[in-house]
Amino acid sequence: IEQQLLEQFEAKIAADDKIEPKDWMPEAYRANLIRQMSQHAHSEVIGMQPEGNWLSRAPNLHRKMVLLAKVQDEAGHGLYLYSATETLGITRDEMVTAMHQQRAKYASIFNYPTLTWADIGAIGWLVDGAAIVNQISLQLTSYGPYSRAMIKICKEESFHQRQGYNILIKLCEGSEEQKAMAQDALNRWWWPSLMMFGPHDRESAHSQRSMGWKIKRKSNDDLRQKFVDQTVPQAEFLGLKIPDSDLAWNAQRGHYDFGDIDWREFERVINGNGPCNRERIRHHKRAQDEGAWVRQAMAAYDIKQAGQRVA
Ligand code: 3HC
Repeated sequence: IEQQLLEQFEAKIAADDKIEPKDWMPEAYRANLIRQMSQHAHSEVIGMQPEGNWLSRAPNLHRKMVLLAKVQDEAGHGLYLYSATETLGITRDEMVTAMHQQRAKYASIFNYPTLTWADIGAIGWLVDGAAIVNQISLQLTSYGPYSRAMIKICKEESFHQRQGYNILIKLCEGSEEQKAMAQDALNRWWWPSLMMFGPHDRESAHSQRSMGWKIKRKSNDDLRQKFVDQTVPQAEFLGLKIPDSDLAWNAQRGHYDFGDIDWREFERVINGNGPCNRERIRHHKRAQDEGAWVRQAMAAYDIKQAGQRVA
């Protein structure tokens, strides 16, 4: 019977049908999705910290309002993705505990500090820009709830990228000091943004199986290349220099060639030893503890409501 179920599953994947929560699926497919989707959700929630750091420091009320809207969107994306992951049979508490115990990851990029206001521009332009390249591809993922979450999230991400790029346009049109701030942010955020796409395909632990199950529709290197090709002209428009002396247009390939990523830094950061890893987890644990009373009150309310319905 299992063989039949597996054949039906594989036929659905081959036909680009979506796998839904109640469908039979191989346990390894379920586990891979729980891994990737929960880490995606953690990334959205932890990503609120570096950006939230500038809510009280935004240069004017308009920028503060836009940043507030963006941070609030990230929270919503996280909740949306946690709910989509729960359809695979894991609870919110189990996912959050796994992150607190560093058994689950979140995007390495959020372990870097936001030192100046220009960083908020660079995050919107580069980090949300990279996330959009990745998430547009993930709209076609084979798991229904994840695909639908991506379609909704992609609609909001373009505003995130545009507001970031707009911050940098303003800085680059400003004083020499402001332009230098934008260049400094690009220097610090460029390479960690390329790392968001994961290791090279040949070193990727999951890509082959994820591509076979159509969880991943485009490879890490293809998406990274797409991001570089679309971002270099945007840096040129700003009059900023990308910190990569090997970056050059390759007419043969029809793509930009670029330098080697520092994978030792990548490994350090994804294994808990980046600039802000401890702070991010400590902050999340504190927020989780401070919010415990709200969760308890909601649970008590649900029990009371259920009691009244029965009575
Ligand atoms: N940060 C942290 N961990 C990373 C990583 C990164 N940038 N890139 C890869 N890894 C981890 C993988 O999770 C995996 O570790 P694990 O086995 O413990 O999960 C290991 O490195 C090997 O990498 P693989 O390429 O084999 O792993 P994947 O097939 O999962 O590919 C991925 C990595 C492309 C990031 C894929 O997981 C993915 O597409 N995830 C969904 C997208 C996502 O998480 N985006 C977060 C960006 S931030 C964001 O969206 C917020 C936005 O609003 C700014």
